Amino acid sequence: MYANGKVALVTGAAQGIGRAMVEELLNKGAALAMLDLNRIAGEQCKTSLEEQFGSNRLLFIQCDVTDQEQLRDAFQKTVDHFGRLDILVNNAGVNNEKDWEKTIEVNLSYMLLIEIIFIIFIKGLTPAAYQPVYSASKHGVIGFTRSIAALASIGNYGVRVNTVCPAFVDTPLLASIDKEENMGEYFQYKDNIKDMMKVFGVLNPTLIAEGLVRLIEDETANGAVMKITTTQGIHFEEFNAHQKTKV
Ligand SMILES: NC(=O)c1ccc[n+]([C@@H]2O[C@H](COP(=O)([O-])OP(=O)(O)OC[C@H]3O[C@@H](n4cnc5c(N)ncnc54)[C@H](O)[C@@H]3O)[C@@H](O)[C@H]2O)c1
Repeated sequence: MYANGKVALVTGAAQGIGRAMVEELLNKGAALAMLDLNRIAGEQCKTSLEEQFGSNRLLFIQCDVTDQEQLRDAFQKTVDHFGRLDILVNNAGVNNEKDWEKTIEVNLSYMLLIEIIFIIFIKGLTPAAYQPVYSASKHGVIGFTRSIAALASIGNYGVRVNTVCPAFVDTPLLASIDKEENMGEYFQYKDNIKDMMKVFGVLNPTLIAEGLVRLIEDETANGAVMKITTTQGIHFEEFNAHQKTKV
């Protein structure tokens, strides 16, 4: 039971997948710092979870993960408050094809700033015809986390780095597909994305939280890429590290 008694920091924790992950980690006995840009949603989430789990295992910190100073401050506050930090869940993300710099900044760049303890991140194995920037940001996350996992292993750093890649998940993020300010020139394809949701189905965030805990509890997992789909549930991407490429 690795999570029991440990301290986790979850970014983008106020709603959706982040909130489900916080709840599952509380169930497993962890204490948590919840980081989110949205103070109102974050405070509300903390209050409602404390009714269920008691008031001494949660800390909410308003933080924009793209602001290096705020992020460092949030890490420091977490360690000052709980005395340690064992699990880092990099979950915060946006879908914005119009403001592509923001998408890269929130979904990818901020991860490059962090001294890693344990990274989890999301999606990036499949092309997304109508969300190319989103897809690129997530592919970047996979390359980065798997490389850091290899480094951690070579250097024997005692750090594990893994990723979780779900298909569509039932969260407020899906509503961004219906907004021109999020989709930009790809707004015209919103119905195509909805058709894909009908074909592939939409996952419950609790299943993603279950996958996360499984990765945390498996102390041999490093560099793993967990996929979660409606048809196959929780499973893993196979990579061949020794594959030779032709030039
Ligand atoms: N919903 C899906 O279908 C789906 C599928 C695969 C992967 N993902 C990824 O899972 C993660 C969580 O997605 P979700 O569906 O729960 O989204 P969501 O929009 O419901 O929640 C995201 C949370 O992140 C917060 N956030 C956004 N920008 C932030 C910033 N700069 N600093 C701090 N917090 C910030 C938001 O305030 C929000 O509370 C994202 O990385 C997303 O890309 C989602």
